[in-house]
Amino acid sequence: MTFTEPAATPLALLLLGQGSDAGSERGVDCPGDLPPASDPTLVARATAAKAALGQRVFVLGHHYQRDEVVQFADVTGDSFKLARDAAARPDAEFVVFCGVHFMAESADILTGPDQQVILPDLAAGCSMADMADYQQVVEAWDVLRDAGVADVTVPITYMNSSAAIKAFTGEHGGAVCTSSNAERALRWALDRGEKVLFLPDQHLGRNTAVLGLGMSLDDCVVYNPHKRDGGLTPEQLRNATMILWQGHCSVHGRFTASNVADVRSRVPDVNVLVHPECRHEVVLGADLVGSTEFIIKTVDAAPAGSTWAIGTELNLVRRLAARHPDKRVIFLEKTVCYCSTMNRIDLPHLVRSLEALTRGEVVNRISVEPQVAENARLALDRMLALP
Ligand code: 13P
Ligand code: SF4
Repeated sequence: MTFTEPAATPLALLLLGQGSDAGSERGVDCPGDLPPASDPTLVARATAAKAALGQRVFVLGHHYQRDEVVQFADVTGDSFKLARDAAARPDAEFVVFCGVHFMAESADILTGPDQQVILPDLAAGCSMADMADYQQVVEAWDVLRDAGVADVTVPITYMNSSAAIKAFTGEHGGAVCTSSNAERALRWALDRGEKVLFLPDQHLGRNTAVLGLGMSLDDCVVYNPHKRDGGLTPEQLRNATMILWQGHCSVHGRFTASNVADVRSRVPDVNVLVHPECRHEVVLGADLVGSTEFIIKTVDAAPAGSTWAIGTELNLVRRLAARHPDKRVIFLEKTVCYCSTMNRIDLPHLVRSLEALTRGEVVNRISVEPQVAENARLALDRMLALP
C-alpha cells in the first residue's frame, strides 16, 4: 500500500445540450417548486439559463455529483480544489455549488462579500460533518484542558465539518485539511504542538497518522462524544499523539477488508485503489490510497488493459469506467451505494437555482455568520498556505 498526496488535475469542463426552452411548463411562483425530473427539456433549460447568466454565474461540481449535474459544472474537483477554485473567481456574482453544505459554507467564506453562494438543495448535508457538533467539540476541549493537554494540542479539522467547527479550529490555532493534504496538515500541526485533535473523520486521521507519518495505532485514541469524557482517561489522553474524533463517512465506511480480499480472489491482476475515508484495514489491504483527485489521476494515467477496483463514491467510479473503455474499472463492493446527500443535487434543483437567478431571485443562499466566517477563514487560510 502506498500513501499518496496528489497534485492538481485538469478540469472536466463539459457543457451539453442546446436550444432554449425558458418558457416551458413549470410549477410557477412557489420557491419550493421544482421542475419534474422527467421533464425532457431540463438540459435545454439549464443550458439556456446558464447562457443567459454568462460570466455572472460560476458552477462548481464535486466529483461525487451526478453526471446530469456535472455536465453543467464550469469546474469539477475534490473539496480542496473546489475551495481554491471558488476563491479564484472574484468576478462571479453567483457561485452555484453542486456539492454538500459544508463545501458551500467554505466557498462562502473564501469568496468576496459581494458574491452569493447557492446550494441547489439545502438537504444536501453530510452525515460525517454532522457527527461533530460545535458544543460537543467545546466540551471535548474542556476534557483536554482538564487532562492538562489542551495547551499542547493543535486541532485539525477535515474540510467535511461545519463552519462552526472550522471557526473553533481557527480560534485554537489549528487548520483545515482535506484528503489531498491531510499528511501535510498533520506535519504542520505537530511542528506546533505535541498532539492533534483530529475532527471529525477518525479514518482519515488514523490512516494519515499511521501510513503517512509512521505512527503506530497505539499513538491514536478515539474520542467518543457520546461518552463521558469521550470515553478516555486523562492518562490515555496524555499518552496519545492523535486524538481522533469518533466520526466516519457513511459511504466509505461501508467498504470492508473482505471486499478487498474478495475482489483479489475474483479478478486477476486487479489494482485496489481506495479513498482515505475508508477503514484502516481496507486501506492496508489496498494498493493505493488517495483523494478523489488522486483516484482520477491514477486511473487516467494507468496503462490500457489494466484493471482497477475502486473504493469511493459510485458516481465517480461509474464516470471513470465510462471514460476509460480501454481499462477495466470496477466498483470495490456492489452493495455500497451513492452518497445520498450528494445525490440530492439533481438537474431539477440545478435548473430551479439557475432559472431563479435569471429572474433576479437567489434561492438557497448559503451565508456564514461574519464572526464564524472570520475564525473559520483563519483555519482555511492556514490550509491554503500549507507547502
Ligand atoms: P475529497 O473531495 O477530499 O476527496 O473528499 C471526498 C468526500 O467525501 C467529500 O465529501
Ligand atoms: Fe459526507 Fe461521505 Fe457523502 Fe462525502 S461521501 S458528503 S463524507 S457522507
